[in-house]
Amino acid sequence: MREDMGQKKLFVNTMGCQMNVYDTGQIQQRMAPLGFEPTEDLAKADVIIVNTCAIRAKAEQKAFSFLGRLLPYKEQKPELIIAMGGCVAQQEGHKVLSRMPHVDLVFGTHAIRRLPQLIQKIAATRCRIVDVEMASAIASDDFMLGHASSSDVATFVTIMRGCDNYCTYCVVPHVRGRESSRTPDEIISEIEHLVAHGVREVTLLGQNVNSYGKKEGFCSFAQLLERVDRVNGLARIRFTTSHPKDLSEELMLAFDRLEKLCPHIHLPVQSGADAVLRRMNRRYTSRQYRDKVAMLRSIRPDIAITSDIIVGFPGETEEEFSATLHLIDQVGFDGLFAFIYSDRPNAPAVRFDNKIGETEKKKRLQSVLNRQEILTQKKNEALTGSIQQILVDGLSKHLSYDADERLVADALEGVQWSGRTGTNKIVHFMQAPQNDDWNQMLTGRIMQIMIEKAMSHSLWGRPLS
Ligand code: SAH
Ligand code: SF4
Ligand code: F3S
Repeated sequence: MREDMGQKKLFVNTMGCQMNVYDTGQIQQRMAPLGFEPTEDLAKADVIIVNTCAIRAKAEQKAFSFLGRLLPYKEQKPELIIAMGGCVAQQEGHKVLSRMPHVDLVFGTHAIRRLPQLIQKIAATRCRIVDVEMASAIASDDFMLGHASSSDVATFVTIMRGCDNYCTYCVVPHVRGRESSRTPDEIISEIEHLVAHGVREVTLLGQNVNSYGKKEGFCSFAQLLERVDRVNGLARIRFTTSHPKDLSEELMLAFDRLEKLCPHIHLPVQSGADAVLRRMNRRYTSRQYRDKVAMLRSIRPDIAITSDIIVGFPGETEEEFSATLHLIDQVGFDGLFAFIYSDRPNAPAVRFDNKIGETEKKKRLQSVLNRQEILTQKKNEALTGSIQQILVDGLSKHLSYDADERLVADALEGVQWSGRTGTNKIVHFMQAPQNDDWNQMLTGRIMQIMIEKAMSHSLWGRPLS
């Protein structure tokens, strides 16, 4: 497979978090010089890459079941190359080859930059390869300048790799390696490049952005945000994730100071019980968490706060679980992701006693979800009658098309668009068409919208501008 071999098709199934999505972009960019262009049709692919997630057992099972379904494609087309990348690949390594005889390549989370050579070698020799080597620091050629497709209004930029926190339930430090940061200059160049290609909003990614650059002696994360804020043409900045123990006053104050920084923070709490937090090795108490929330709100009263909760952590008693429900009420999150605790190989909690049964875990999950649904609805209702600034990300999905694939729109009412508030809430609105180029019309623009109605997962509004 050489550069002169013409167009080849690459299918990538992205199964994980935002970092995994970013990595898929890197994979596509690395493969482009070999003549690969993306396809969404498995049957047309010359290379299929499954970019996997290992965060919970279910995610890992999904990865293997998708790989299993690829066998008929390989039987049909023996020259097809099937590769497993991402966090399950890093975790399982050689074991994947024996479990999945039709897989040609297993490449870990630090091997993306070597992908072109690995694929070329397999195409030339039909060998099978496992590359799960990890490095402690980011090398200068680990990342390519991020790429944006012409329709991307908002995109991710990975600013750090790995995690050093070792929460006892978590697989990430084991599959993504030690924490390491990209240089500020590289990050700024990437953002400038993205903005030049039409991107209006970036989300800076790291498992714990608060410790950005500390090891390397770069600037603080708040100082990095300040530099990003100065990038001309960029409208909005978001970041994820912040570990509550490291959330500094300097960073909190950035929400007041920086014009482009959106008033939203994802601050995973995991549990409301101090004893559980201790067993999780989270290194903060429920009180300290609530104090940080109070401080954030005093600095930026309209800030939206979202979080992650794990229910059924080993040994979680009824009282401890109630403490989590209580914390949810006390804080009043704008949104919550709740997960059933899942044993992970390599994570210490797998060896903890007093595992909670599946039925009980499901019951606890449902209580959390029910509780939050009411709170989210209330938060959304409180916005009716307000004027919100929306960054339009495009036409709402599920619109109907006529036989010529033209949008069916009522000429009087217009078509339905969607966008997000600074607080990251989805807003839908109608706008009458003004010309034939629907997508060009509003996508990427900031609009003033009067919120008229609150739904449980989104808002409905009327454009004022
Ligand atoms: N670095 C981020 C989290 C990344 S993982 C942070 O610390 O905030 C995303 C979420 O998955 C975590 O916040 C946690 O709620 C959940 N999670 C991680 N490991 C899990 C496990 N073993 N079982 C269930 N949920 C888990
Ligand atoms: Fe996992 Fe904890 Fe690191 Fe987040 S901070 S990635 S939960 S070990
Ligand atoms: Fe992300 Fe899943 Fe890996 S959450 S870091 S893709 S384990």
